[in-house]
Amino acid sequence: MFKKFRKNDNRQPQCDTLDLQHIPEHIAIIMDGNGRWAKQRKMPRIKGHFQGMETIKAITREVSTLGVKYLTLYAFSTENWSRPQEEINYIMGLPVNFLNTFLPELIEKNVKVETIGFVDELPTKTIQAIEEAKLKTADNTGLTLIFAINYGGRAEIMHGIQNAIKHFKHASESEIEQLTEKDFSRFLMTADFPDPDLLIRTSGEQRISNFLIWQLSYSEFIFNEKMWPEFDAEDLQACIKTYQSRQRRFGGL
Ligand code: IPE
Ligand code: IPE
Ligand code: MG
Repeated sequence: MFKKFRKNDNRQPQCDTLDLQHIPEHIAIIMDGNGRWAKQRKMPRIKGHFQGMETIKAITREVSTLGVKYLTLYAFSTENWSRPQEEINYIMGLPVNFLNTFLPELIEKNVKVETIGFVDELPTKTIQAIEEAKLKTADNTGLTLIFAINYGGRAEIMHGIQNAIKHFKHASESEIEQLTEKDFSRFLMTADFPDPDLLIRTSGEQRISNFLIWQLSYSEFIFNEKMWPEFDAEDLQACIKTYQSRQRRFGGL
């Protein structure tokens, strides 16, 4: 069923048609371009990260309204530690700010907060903010909002292999040979979530940057030219519309 949204409808601005029966269940986003957005405006890079946080709120509201079940946001990669310490410090303070200002709305919207990544390596204040958000939203049943923070796909797979080896150390050779992809997926940080249907990367870069390299095997990729701080609900709807025009074959016909 196609629903037409009116141009003056505040909730769904300027969206032509979206098939509400085929909203992707899981959207993953590489939120890129914060620094360039700020630089274009002659502002320090951290202003871009602040504004990017506001975009996260707007996009979370939108996907929650559209009935998306999972939203995974790449917030900090295992490679982002190579940035200047000042920038890292600022980024590590953002979850505190984000949750201080947005947690009540997340609770109200029935959103469940989760993370993937090596969270225990983050500064204490960052861990505390994340833990509080997880605890207070643990029983929510609407959108699951997953922050990939100190996340890297290769590190995740290595970690999964290490855990699998520990788990199966007494297994026979034939038991090990019978292990399936599904069995291995249980050792990944995404064990509780389905694979993304749609991957969006903003800022015009067309690469995966070590994000969900196992899970994106059959996802649809959309690269958007806008910088993350200027990406809005309308852009998201356009991405979903493009997704809906794609034919997914999963190797079949
Ligand atoms: C994405 O924006 C946010 C993080 C990686 C933390 P960038 O900070 O990568 O911004 P650009 O790509 O340099 O413009
Ligand atoms: C990917 O963006 C990581 C996040 C969005 C958190 P980067 O800006 O780190 O990726 P590269 O360096 O351009 O590949
Ligand atoms: Mg970048």
